[in-house]
Amino acid sequence: MSYAIVYSSRTGNTARLAKALQEFLPEQDCVYVGAPDPQALSADTLYVGFWTDKGTCDAETAGFLPNLNGQSVFLFGTAGFGGDATYFARILDRVKALLPAGVTVRGTFMCQGKMPPAVRARYETMAGSPQRTAMLENFDRALSHPDKEDEKHLLAAVTA
Ligand SMILES: Cc1cc2nc3c(=O)[nH]c(=O)nc-3n(C[C@H](O)[C@H](O)[C@H](O)COP(=O)(O)O)c2cc1C
Repeated sequence: MSYAIVYSSRTGNTARLAKALQEFLPEQDCVYVGAPDPQALSADTLYVGFWTDKGTCDAETAGFLPNLNGQSVFLFGTAGFGGDATYFARILDRVKALLPAGVTVRGTFMCQGKMPPAVRARYETMAGSPQRTAMLENFDRALSHPDKEDEKHLLAAVTA
């Protein structure tokens, strides 16, 4: 079964997951690895990676998903906010809604992805509040992700 790995990554987090996938999957069945591109559509299975922007996938991925036609897809993504399966599920529901009928979702995976220091600097300027504290804590928790464990969980989800 042929496959393609299609991913969008602005700061490298989703690219790291894509690389782990590429190293894991059999090279001889791979038709394409890279940014969203029509070349990927000839594969039987597409592994589509996105970064989260305003609660859904980034615009490049959102523009690509409607082009699928009958393939099977595994969705993987990173998000700045994490630690909450419901939050990830909501994002994935929005992403799945972009897929045309007839595309099978064979699995999904999401994990936290670190954010640029400018985001923390912006939180720091906010007045003290429980929300500010939670955002700072979340930012710091994200700093080490994606990590080796996240990669392991991704590969486990792919083989499930
Ligand atoms: C413009 C912008 C908007 C973002 N919006 C969200 C968001 O709505 N929810 C979230 O959890 N993370 C959000 N993030 C954080 C990124 O999704 C997260 O850091 C992701 O891991 C980046 O992946 P990348 O390194 O592959 O680009 C946003 C980041 C940027 C730059």
